[in-house]
Amino acid sequence: VRIAVRQIAEPEEVRGVVRTWQVGGLTVGLVPTMGALHDGHLSLIRASAADCDHTVVSIYVNPTQFAPTEDLASYPRSLERDCTRAAGAGADAVFCPPDRAMYPDGFATYVVQDGLTDVLEGRSRPTHFRGVLTVVCKLLNIVPADRAYFGRKDFQQTVVVRRMVRDLNLPTDIRVLPTVREPDGLAMSSRNAYLNDEERGQAVCLVRALRRACALFAGGETDGDALRQAMRSVLEEAPLACADYADVVDPDTLEPVEVAAGKSVAVLAVRVGGTRLIDNMPVAGEAI
Ligand code: PAF
Repeated sequence: VRIAVRQIAEPEEVRGVVRTWQVGGLTVGLVPTMGALHDGHLSLIRASAADCDHTVVSIYVNPTQFAPTEDLASYPRSLERDCTRAAGAGADAVFCPPDRAMYPDGFATYVVQDGLTDVLEGRSRPTHFRGVLTVVCKLLNIVPADRAYFGRKDFQQTVVVRRMVRDLNLPTDIRVLPTVREPDGLAMSSRNAYLNDEERGQAVCLVRALRRACALFAGGETDGDALRQAMRSVLEEAPLACADYADVVDPDTLEPVEVAAGKSVAVLAVRVGGTRLIDNMPVAGEAI
């Protein structure tokens, strides 16, 4: 059975729909995505549909968060399939704006954040978080939701978005949900579609490296450098993998830790063939 979902392209229209719901006393959840919806996205939509009276999924491949050398042109796009999947998971509306609605001629205002955006992903992708924060701020203004849902897989993104919401007094409650994994442990990501069979096989090195750090921590190892080195050793076993970073950081400051504690997070970015993948795990284990 195909369930229909309302597709809305214009910011004023979706804001009007959301306001009408809220004036009627109903709560609204927003799930911001770039489409190519997988089970990780669907878990966010289901959580929103369970918590809120109405759920809006935004599908927008945001050009400002891609550097000129990155995969904007090839990023997977599948709007009709996404709408069906979003509806099946409980979405009431899909907001899918054209670029001219998000970045009209003369667009000149961006959200930048000091500190947290300079490390990890920000070091490798210097303009990425400016684009993410700008579009998330715009989406939260266009869809003034009570709650917005983000996946834990993009750990640094969740940290910088929470900080923006706090610093700019945005009224939306940010919810972060666990990473959804393939049966072999690979974190679900739209970019997994780029992997050929051999790369897909070796991509499991990311979660193996994270689990190695967790196992060592569980065995009493708290030295940050020992945990980092253990992750790198696992990654080196995969010939197609090239680590961008493998670190153990404080979840609030994102600074590397000398001595790991239960709240410390193992984070990594690895190029597998031509595809850059990220993943993370608290060293005390994923249930934390
Ligand atoms: O996580 C993503 O898919 C994107 O970074 C987001 C939050 C939708 C902003 O474009």
